[in-house]
Amino acid sequence: PAAPVLAIDGPSGSGKGTISRAVAGQLGWHYLDSGALYRGVGVAAGWNDIDLADPAALVRCTFDTRIAFRDLPGGEPRVLINDVDATDELRTETAGAAASAIAAIPEVRSALKDRQRAFRQQPGLVADGRDMGTVIFPDARWKVFLTASAEERADRRYKQLIGKGVSVTLAGLLREILARDARDANRPVAPLRPADDAVRIDTTGVGIDEVVARVLAVVRG
Ligand code: C5P
Repeated sequence: PAAPVLAIDGPSGSGKGTISRAVAGQLGWHYLDSGALYRGVGVAAGWNDIDLADPAALVRCTFDTRIAFRDLPGGEPRVLINDVDATDELRTETAGAAASAIAAIPEVRSALKDRQRAFRQQPGLVADGRDMGTVIFPDARWKVFLTASAEERADRRYKQLIGKGVSVTLAGLLREILARDARDANRPVAPLRPADDAVRIDTTGVGIDEVVARVLAVVRG
């Protein structure tokens, strides 16, 4: 039988990555960071000077780009793009914005479909993204939609970046988050929306451990 899937979708900054990795760790399941695939293509496009307004070139770039994950005990997994460790570059706002533009191209999304489904292996998969419960794993046994206010998401991102020594402003981040939300929610292909059967969890003002506990409660019943 196909391995069970827990789909975790939500907007950027909803804490999906942190929560999904923690839940996968607790369950001993595989983890798919689908955003890293879109970001990976975005980074590769940058390396190859591909114009973000050239869909045909971006589709070719998607097929030509190998993206692999290497688990680090106790740390965030490393992401290799064509065998080069691009983990840090992947997390930049530039990569996020490129990913969001690329993710609006239907041929790119379908090219990445099978690669995402290949992560579904025993004993189970926690799949993190925008369309895990709606498009990639519509038959997921559990679907969670994580939200948080835009202000809180901007604040989380601010602390994360300042902690890394990146110079940003809270107002600038809030603007970027609102713009990305609008782009992801309004695109014609796979717009960000909760699956009809998703459990919605608002994480505004809720700590990571509590959110992890609530998600685990969904799985464990
Ligand atoms: O989740 P993350 O911020 O890494 O995703 C980066 C961008 O990739 C998102 O803004 C979204 O446009 C796109 N994406 C997507 N579908 C997914 C995951 C990410 O369209 N399943």
